[in-house]
Amino acid sequence: MPVIEMEQVLIPHVREPNSFTLDFYLAHGGYAALKTALGRTPDEIIEMVKASGLRGRGGAGFPTGMKWQFVDKKIEPRYIVCNADESEPGTFKDHLLMERNPHLLVEGCAIGCYAIGARTAYIYIRGEFHHVQRHLERAIEEAYAAGYLGRDILGSGFDCDVFVHRGAGAYEAGEETALLESLEGKRAQPRNKPPVPAVAGLYGKPSAVNNVETLCNVPIVVSRGVEWYTSIGPEKNGGPKLYCVSGHVKRPGVYEATMNITLRELVEGRAGGVRDGRTLKAVIPGGSSVPILLPDQLDTQASFDGVQRAGSLLGSAAIVVLDDTTCMVWLAENLLHFYRHESCGKCTPCREGTDWLHKILARIERGEGQMSDLDLLASISRNVGGKTLCAFGDAAITPVVTTLKHFRDEYEAHVREGRCTRPAPWRARHLVGAH
Ligand SMILES: Cc1cc2nc3c(=O)[nH]c(=O)nc-3n(C[C@H](O)[C@H](O)[C@H](O)COP(=O)(O)O)c2cc1C
Ligand code: SF4
Repeated sequence: MPVIEMEQVLIPHVREPNSFTLDFYLAHGGYAALKTALGRTPDEIIEMVKASGLRGRGGAGFPTGMKWQFVDKKIEPRYIVCNADESEPGTFKDHLLMERNPHLLVEGCAIGCYAIGARTAYIYIRGEFHHVQRHLERAIEEAYAAGYLGRDILGSGFDCDVFVHRGAGAYEAGEETALLESLEGKRAQPRNKPPVPAVAGLYGKPSAVNNVETLCNVPIVVSRGVEWYTSIGPEKNGGPKLYCVSGHVKRPGVYEATMNITLRELVEGRAGGVRDGRTLKAVIPGGSSVPILLPDQLDTQASFDGVQRAGSLLGSAAIVVLDDTTCMVWLAENLLHFYRHESCGKCTPCREGTDWLHKILARIERGEGQMSDLDLLASISRNVGGKTLCAFGDAAITPVVTTLKHFRDEYEAHVREGRCTRPAPWRARHLVGAH
């Protein structure tokens, strides 16, 4: 199995014991990008990030340079808000970056602030990440003591503070406007858009909300240069990417690669393939909110555009691998249990729809469903999709729509035989757990 090898730049030394310390980071070229950035104008940094084609790693793949350009420069103060909520099931890359390479994120926050003319960055970290918070705060303290944060950084006249704010552990708090509400001390419920955060974000001020991995790419763009950055990976999908491979594989983990890599190389190469004696049934390529891909689509390029061409989304690059023991009705039920619980309840189609979808899936899985339930599931999904305030609604119906599309025979067999028909569905129960 050919595996595309590239120099690791996001997680190069994460297995080494002191990779999270300032001394270690400096010994490996850390904070050189901040020095370089402070020698340029903020507009030059934005132009550089735009030219690099860096796309947001939080899910939507929106160009970061463009997002920074949209930030209203006439109003002060402005903020960088780092989305470290990492709540999409199957996603665990930001956790690794913050735990083992936190100075890369601190440096990315400082350069981001400089570029948009902000003096403050908030890192909104998922509620359950207690120990990661400690790592980050230690890194921030070290950066202050060494003059990489605080007043007049490196004699440039630029001031920058970075704060860590721990959320209460809600999936919806990862949606950028819900995150801003939560950061302001309110319930994590999304805002109406427009205005977008670039115009009126945190405390009503212009803000750029960026994912952890996105901000970690910024020092790499600055230090390696645009030419290098765009040269690795396909057109419009440049730069290093972290993939979280989990589920029924021999070596689950976070793998760094360029986006030239295929799903096959990730699943069969890096992650060692499915467990012995089992065969591949399906792959969810971008976290639980995206459509399933089938084994004959494994040669799909694992880039934003490649996965979209194949009919799904790269999302948070959480590749969940399912082998032939997985019951697809159980999978949908398990995920809807999660979405039903995590719906913030602000809009009716999502609040009520996720509850009904879960109830119906649970009765089919128990063997108490009727054939008409299948059309009912499709009808409820149609009444949720595209009819909600935030993208959660579309995410929540996806497990139902995609399993009905590809595995309708399994639903029918459950109803016909009055029981779950897969060989050993419990084996899959650890796969995609609700938080
Ligand atoms: C329900 C929901 C949950 C989300 N959770 C996260 C998350 O945990 N982390 C994240 O970075 N983005 C998450 N997003 C995407 C953010 O709204 C936003 O697009 C992202 O933080 C932008 O950063 P980026 O441009 O660097 O990708 C979520 C979106 C939705 C709709
Ligand atoms: S779609 Fe769901 S999560 Fe989003 S605002 Fe509506 S109720 Fe809340």
